[in-house]
Amino acid sequence: MDEVVTLGRAESDRGEVLLRRRGTGAYAVEELVVNGTFAMDSTETHSERELGRLAGGAPRVLIGGLGLGWTVAAVLDEADRLGLEVQVDVVELEAALVAWAREGRTPTLARAATDPRVRLHVGDVAAVLARRGGPAGPWDAILLDVDNGPDFLIHAQNDALYTEPALREAYDRLAPGGLLAIWCQAPSPPLLAALRTVDASAEEHRHRVSREGRTFTYAIEVLRRPPA
Ligand SMILES: C[S@@+](CC[C@H](N)C(=O)[O-])C[C@H]1O[C@@H](n2cnc3c(N)ncnc32)[C@H](O)[C@@H]1O
Repeated sequence: MDEVVTLGRAESDRGEVLLRRRGTGAYAVEELVVNGTFAMDSTETHSERELGRLAGGAPRVLIGGLGLGWTVAAVLDEADRLGLEVQVDVVELEAALVAWAREGRTPTLARAATDPRVRLHVGDVAAVLARRGGPAGPWDAILLDVDNGPDFLIHAQNDALYTEPALREAYDRLAPGGLLAIWCQAPSPPLLAALRTVDASAEEHRHRVSREGRTFTYAIEVLRRPPA
């Protein structure tokens, strides 16, 4: 049996937030469970890398939410690889997770909290996109990974985020030439169709990944705003 260590546990209005490490040494896996829903672990981070690659070259990036900080790390690494400057706003609903990042409870969370190019904000990314608070934007890339996709929500109220009005708000916060990318645990024809009502050129990037002997097809739905 793997050793399981609780790195953080908190209750918010929305439910429990649980950060833990399973296993030891090179085999250790960090995992995050929010509101009873598996949100992220460090076993398989290729699709977070892909989000970082998609944002490559974007000088201003908005990420919603923080999770374990792998998307933040991917964006920073991609900017470093390209030798470009980047400013990253991260909007995370759970205050405890941001506090744990500032306390350095995992190496990737510590990096997100200490890299001077990153600003962590506690809030609802839907409210930020609707201009109801938080950082003002505009952004050259908006990367959304707040659920496991529209079919597997962490919070029921995130449902609205995947509808045309919210997608249009996100699009409106993009600078000309900017990109909106939404991580999904599986291809989502309804989300792609909603994105195509905003801009017909929206597209889906599929990624086959292996986890614990099973194969999954993750999808990143992408909407680009034309250059000015
Ligand atoms: C799937 S995890 C993100 C994983 C992340 N990509 C990573 O690299 O670790 C989802 C995160 O979004 C947060 N979240 C959920 N709904 C949110 C919302 N409406 N606004 C901001 N953050 C939200 C959750 O608390 C959780 O930290």
